[in-house]
Amino acid sequence: MKKTAIIYSYNSQKSKKVAEKIIAAFGESNIEAINAEKLTKEVFENFSNFILSSPTWFDGELPNYWDEFVPDLEEMDLKGKTFTVFGLGNQKDYPENFCDAIGILVELLEECGAKVVGRTSLEGYNYESSRAEQDGLFVGLPLDQENQARLTNGRIESWVTQLIKEMD
Ligand SMILES: Cc1cc2nc3c(=O)[nH]c(=O)nc-3n(C[C@H](O)[C@H](O)[C@H](O)COP(=O)(O)O)c2cc1C
Repeated sequence: MKKTAIIYSYNSQKSKKVAEKIIAAFGESNIEAINAEKLTKEVFENFSNFILSSPTWFDGELPNYWDEFVPDLEEMDLKGKTFTVFGLGNQKDYPENFCDAIGILVELLEECGAKVVGRTSLEGYNYESSRAEQDGLFVGLPLDQENQARLTNGRIESWVTQLIKEMD
């Protein structure tokens, strides 16, 4: 597999913990961690495969660190690059916007020509609506540490197995 970057906020404790589980499942030598709060355009030139972490904040919005990077992202040509997105959310407290940020980022990436992999089943979640849902699947991996923390390890294990097959 080509060089893979995992981009997450080092300041978000919950996302960081989950990202570290993904890194362990991938094998540390196969993946490089990048702080989403210190992201530069060059990072997108230096890797072929990307795993992005985007928790949902502000009732269905991207967190600030991604929002600030969107103008740069919109100008990028990501053809030939492969992306996947995971995101923390809370299906009980925010059932109408569950993990919307995954869907927002994936839409942006696809507009830039990126290939997006790592779609997952809707089964096992209980919410009303989500921008992460498209054609009967989530366009990435939603994780809910507040209501379904016990399911996280299993979800990560099967997602990483899937990514290893789907990434170039
Ligand atoms: C003010 C606030 C707004 C939130 N909005 C949403 C939301 O719209 N959709 C969702 O699924 N989760 C929402 N959440 C839940 C967070 O995504 C969840 O707590 C997540 O674990 C945060 O991860 P982080 O601390 O790593 O950023 C919200 C949480 C807070 C405190």
